[in-house]
Amino acid sequence: MYYPREVIDEVRMGNDIVDVIGSYVNLKRSGSSYVGLCPFHKEKTPSFHVNRDNQFYYCFGCGAKGNVYSFLMQHQNYSFQDAVKYLAERINYTLPEASYSPDYEYKKQLKQKLYDIHNSAAKFYYEKLNSPEGSNAVRYLDQRQIKKSARITFGLGYAPIATSALYERLLSEGYDEEIILQSGLVTRRNDGSVKDKFFNRLMFPIINVYGNIIGFGGRVIGQGEPKYLNSPETEIFNKSKNLYSLNFARLSKKKELILVEGYMDVISVYQAGFHNVVAALGTAFNENHAKTLKAYADSVILLFDSDAAGVKAVLRAIPVLNNAGIKVKVLQVTDAKDPDEYIKKFGSTAFGKLLERSKSQYTFRIECMAKDYDLSKSDEKIAYTNEIAKILSTIDNAIEADVYIKDAAAITGISQEAIRSVISSINGETVAVTKPPVVHNKTAGTNKGTDDARKGLISIMVGNPAICGMLRNILNPEEFVDEFYITMVKAIYELVDAGKPVIAANIVGYYETVEDQQRATELFVLQMTYNNTEDLQKAVSDQLIKVKGAYIDKKIEAAMATANTAEVAELVRDKRNINNLNIRF
Ligand code: GTP
Ligand code: MN
Repeated sequence: MYYPREVIDEVRMGNDIVDVIGSYVNLKRSGSSYVGLCPFHKEKTPSFHVNRDNQFYYCFGCGAKGNVYSFLMQHQNYSFQDAVKYLAERINYTLPEASYSPDYEYKKQLKQKLYDIHNSAAKFYYEKLNSPEGSNAVRYLDQRQIKKSARITFGLGYAPIATSALYERLLSEGYDEEIILQSGLVTRRNDGSVKDKFFNRLMFPIINVYGNIIGFGGRVIGQGEPKYLNSPETEIFNKSKNLYSLNFARLSKKKELILVEGYMDVISVYQAGFHNVVAALGTAFNENHAKTLKAYADSVILLFDSDAAGVKAVLRAIPVLNNAGIKVKVLQVTDAKDPDEYIKKFGSTAFGKLLERSKSQYTFRIECMAKDYDLSKSDEKIAYTNEIAKILSTIDNAIEADVYIKDAAAITGISQEAIRSVISSINGETVAVTKPPVVHNKTAGTNKGTDDARKGLISIMVGNPAICGMLRNILNPEEFVDEFYITMVKAIYELVDAGKPVIAANIVGYYETVEDQQRATELFVLQMTYNNTEDLQKAVSDQLIKVKGAYIDKKIEAAMATANTAEVAELVRDKRNINNLNIRF
């Protein structure tokens, strides 16, 4: 979701840059600006300036600069959306999507109380771990070689044996029973009594990217069932959106994250020096997890348990990550059941070396499949080659494909030529089936002609404010289908309405990623010149018809999918009518 410009500006103006940066950097007043040691490079004398009048920062040492959003994105590695959310929260500003809900205010207060309860609970568990009651848990942590520093970083705690100790503590702190129950940390039994959800367990606070504790995982001390118990889903805890330790992984600023299976794996990997590690919370890795990760990572190393269940989970996670546009590598530990045990047995240095030997997802899949075939039989070898070719035919980049073809040949003993020829026959005959379009909004639902028409029309709009004004009444941004163009057209209309010039510098600010910003700039370079008004008129008409047609085609496709024949008929009529559009200027 893209916030409206005014919202982004209001949130930014509500958060004074000196206050925000001042909470991370020690700033001293000096003339008209504030000065401190730059957080982006090492220095002994301060060259980092924050300017209150103009609301920006600038470092004379390393050139880091920007506004309050850039700072949070650079320093805290927030995505742009999350930086907006974070700053909105900071000043109690209601963001538009949330304000649609009528009970928003109520929900907001409830959430705040639940965060408070979780904070109190974490403190309580932490105290108990460090009291005589926690001695068994401490011994267990010692035995699992979890260092003091990691215990503190992760806020580990202990839920005592007494079955309602937390409940009593929360009551004594003044929370209502009703709200305590909503936290999920305490439950009402059938007999009416109220008991803690967790007792006699080692406690792992689960922290979201904004630094709020939203739930807990609890492990039995030693043997027992269930081994792990998690908080139930609550108003603030959604298991399929949050990942354990993403708050720390985010701060590592690595664009490659390591995904492991469990809490203990995360802590082991973290204390071995690799902070870019996260885990799903006892649920299978799903699309929502992938979406959450995409804001912080370009690629993920899957590092699951070495058993059959782990391999299965890896194979399931690969397409989920691919669909979110995240690159995948796979790492399997050998001679240990999971990363935690591996690090204990072989040490951090060996683990670092192992990480460098992560395999590509393709090599992993090809190796996995080999187990299903008896390669001494020629018919099975052929079947296996076909399966390999199917996997490799999905790779778009020819150079990349070549690398894996070589790998595959080495693994299987099948010649590269043989694999190559099967791939080209797959690609030649049934491209549509074996090569579904990547589910990526940027290229969704287009062929080259449509894409050219969208680009062409936009480049005309950019150069002709009068044509913009006219198109504004007959062409909706949504009709451009592709998110990138929709944003562009919305921006153009907004600028025209505001009487501002439609120039690259004004448009680029509507995009959040460097790639999109560059792509937008290119459209301004691509200005066509037309000999006369007639040619220009024809170009607008032709391209308008293509753009509108592609939009309707997409709606027809959707209507067909739901077998809505009445709607299909109407859309087909609409499409015919496009040709009657009369463009004159
Ligand atoms: P340790 O024995 O403590 O080392 O466990 P582990 O880190 O090796 O975890 P394991 O591989 O057994 O499980 C991985 C993850 O799955 C855990 O971190 C939990 O999130 C989840 N999990 C494991 N067992 C249970 C269980 O009994 N119930 C639930 N809800 N989740 C579990
Ligand atoms: Mn494990």
